[in-house]
Amino acid sequence: MKVIVTKNYDEMSKVAADILIEQVKKNPRSTLGLATGSSPIGTYQKIIEAYNNKEVSFKDVKTYNLDEYCGISIDHPQSYYCFMHDNLFNHVDIKEENVHIPSARGTESEIQAQCNAYNEALKKASIDIQLLGIGGNGHIGFNEPGTSFEQETFVVTLAERTREDNKRFFNSIDEVPTHAVTMGIKNIMQAKSILMLISGKGKADTVVKLLSGEVTTDFPASVLYRHEDVTIVVDEDAYSKYAEQN
Ligand code: F6R
Repeated sequence: MKVIVTKNYDEMSKVAADILIEQVKKNPRSTLGLATGSSPIGTYQKIIEAYNNKEVSFKDVKTYNLDEYCGISIDHPQSYYCFMHDNLFNHVDIKEENVHIPSARGTESEIQAQCNAYNEALKKASIDIQLLGIGGNGHIGFNEPGTSFEQETFVVTLAERTREDNKRFFNSIDEVPTHAVTMGIKNIMQAKSILMLISGKGKADTVVKLLSGEVTTDFPASVLYRHEDVTIVVDEDAYSKYAEQN
């Protein structure tokens, strides 16, 4: 596990964007696994800047997103479909048919069928770099504490901590979805390489747990110790507690 400590969020975003851009320059037909949330927004902005400067094109790039909320419509401003289009896809030359975001709408059995289809697509996808954030409780995608490392794409009941953490995006906690479809830990681990972003004082305890090296399903991100190509880009605020203790 390679750990890169950056001065702040902006530098974290630059480092991460450069890694993703290099991948696409090296192989214009790359497949990227993408994340939502606050952590990657700056990275996506830097990618858009690079695209506008004609440094990189996404016309042959394929993407697979980690997750999507159940219970809100695709055009809800907080759907991950909207998030990805607003923050990245609408601003670069990616083809809509190359964009994959789990579908989480319909009846229970329809959603289950969509999970299975996404899972099958992921098996064939061969993701070059999977971008990840990390939940305060150590979740990756929406694989909450206690999830088996063998888990594939599924419908998850969101942990209360996750709903609390994400209520900042909604008018109230009652509006935060209770369920989501997420790639499973097994799907995430199948990526050729993993790039995790961690920022802010609020993640300082999370970083201490992650870097303790203990591998446990109680802290899903710890599974990354079993992957051979992981880069963690963490800003000084998020790294601060670990730095004090080591
Ligand atoms: C997002 C995702 C989540 C977030 C995590 C951190 O697609 O799968 O695991 O990466 O909840 O969120 P932020 O970046 O908002 O702190």
